[in-house]
Amino acid sequence: MEGLRRLEYRGYDSAGVAVVTADGISMAKKSGKLANLIAELAANPLPASMTGIGHTRWATHGGPTDKNAHPHVVDDGKLAVIHNGIIENYAPLKADLLKQGYTFVSETDTEVAAVLLGDIYRSLTEVEGAAGSEGTGALLTEAMQLAAQRLEGAFTLLATHAGQPGIVVAARRNSPLVVGLGDGENFLGSDVSGFIDYTRRAVELGQDQVVTISANSVEITDFYGAPAQGKEYLVDWDAAAAEKGGYPSFMEKEINDQPEAVAQTLLGRSDIDGKLILDELRIDAEVLKTINKIIVLACGTSAYAGQVAKYAIEHWCRIPTEVELSHEFRYRDPIVDEKTLIVSISQSGETMDTLMAVRYAKEQGAKTVSICNTNGSTIPRESDAVLYTHAGPEIAVASTKAFLAQITAAYLLGLYLAQLRGNLFQGQIKDILADLAKVPAKIAKVLDNAEQIKELATSMADTRTVLFLGRHVGYPVAMEGALKLKELAYIHAEGFAAGELKHGPIALIEEGQPVIVVVPSPRGRDSLHSKVVSNIQEVRARGAKTIVIAEEGDESVREHAEHVFYIPETTPLLAPLLTTVPLQIFALALATAKGYDVDQPRNLAKSVTVE
Ligand code: G6P
Repeated sequence: MEGLRRLEYRGYDSAGVAVVTADGISMAKKSGKLANLIAELAANPLPASMTGIGHTRWATHGGPTDKNAHPHVVDDGKLAVIHNGIIENYAPLKADLLKQGYTFVSETDTEVAAVLLGDIYRSLTEVEGAAGSEGTGALLTEAMQLAAQRLEGAFTLLATHAGQPGIVVAARRNSPLVVGLGDGENFLGSDVSGFIDYTRRAVELGQDQVVTISANSVEITDFYGAPAQGKEYLVDWDAAAAEKGGYPSFMEKEINDQPEAVAQTLLGRSDIDGKLILDELRIDAEVLKTINKIIVLACGTSAYAGQVAKYAIEHWCRIPTEVELSHEFRYRDPIVDEKTLIVSISQSGETMDTLMAVRYAKEQGAKTVSICNTNGSTIPRESDAVLYTHAGPEIAVASTKAFLAQITAAYLLGLYLAQLRGNLFQGQIKDILADLAKVPAKIAKVLDNAEQIKELATSMADTRTVLFLGRHVGYPVAMEGALKLKELAYIHAEGFAAGELKHGPIALIEEGQPVIVVVPSPRGRDSLHSKVVSNIQEVRARGAKTIVIAEEGDESVREHAEHVFYIPETTPLLAPLLTTVPLQIFALALATAKGYDVDQPRNLAKSVTVE
């Protein structure tokens, strides 16, 4: 249950467990959050067992009902299966199995895989006699290999069979799975948080592998039974890092973790002279010098981090930089070659859309760098190089600290390229790094002043729609602010480029419409400040209620705003690391006022491992 609780962020449409006993499989499953399953087990406990599997679901095929919940038990109650991903050829497989006389109780693709596995297992027992052996060579292992060969799409499948107690067999293709190595006990999990309470020793599995674990053994093969190896590593955080630490929600904790997240991401990545040392970036310097285009690939919040980074990278490196949603990129025949640098950004490192886009770009000869927060996950593993964000585990489904850490890491990458290619003087890089080093303390200051924005948000709980405006780097920040509000408070919200408003969206403004504006610093030569102030006046003249995020000392905005929240001074490119924070707090407080679960918003999952 503890493991499932830690993995619940991946999906909370239903939860279930199955354990192996002398009499067969015992199972409990319930739609809704894990709490429902816990209540069910308290009322009707399962028998004691040393082997079991458990699952929390994010519904793809079939609604979030008890029936569609995993595990799926087949083979006369002897085989239990759980699954993440989508089995793309489930329809023909199901038709085949129906013809053979099998029946189905759910609408899921998972049950098709379970019935197929059961069918193969049964025919193996007929050929090879009663099963009993453990480890590789076990019939369940063989059956899993054969089943995996016939499945298409993305899957992590786990199975346990009453005829082979003491083992759990898993197969993975395009979907995450890690092994936890314990002492006299072993684990499988979609990620390490599933077993972090018991061990920090983990083994990454490769693509298209089958693993069989027992209390004392871990055996890995490919889908054809050939022995294979996984890579062992030590998780660099512990269970305490994945707890709320006294905050009412993970999200609030993670918002408050942000000074640390940025500081950790900067740590050890430059020397005293301001020279960047990105050891992990193992792409030949000469190759990086020849890059003539950067494409940033990401989804959701990570894509907004990419959009912020574009401004900095183009400014510092003079390399044309595009930012594209991974799922759009992949299917539009993009122009990519050996001179393209792909920078993927993913908190989880498992987002299927991004993984597929990276693979596609690699096939076209591009060099790939992953900016990622999860050690050992698939996207960094499949990329040529990785720059980890050291934000620590992010559990709340809506991303906060990972976003700031991603911007920080992407900036380091930009500065590194500028250093390598000679676009900036070393002194300039040193100055920017010095400014970056001051950011954590400034974020802490914004957090100290959170009360004012919380109060405002709470008073706005009945609001039906909020618009966010920004220019330059403030534009993606506005979009991220709107996304946070949609995700957490289920309020319609849109982020617009402030300059674009007059070309259409201004028609939305009516009396009392809340508009949150991210105002750039008034300092500096090319400041866009006065343009944004004009945009504020345009909406205000039409009845909008304006809420402004501005730089400390910017008194000129006061007369145009109902509410002003000040952030400490910084350079224009670093401002997103500060201006985002009040928007996160705003969404958190408004959703809390509405009584919503901010850690697990409806319909979402943190790690979306289907396309
Ligand atoms: C999901 C999450 C978002 C996240 C996006 C990208 O949609 O709900 O919070 O921003 O995936 O995830 P990634 O792990 O690739 O950053």
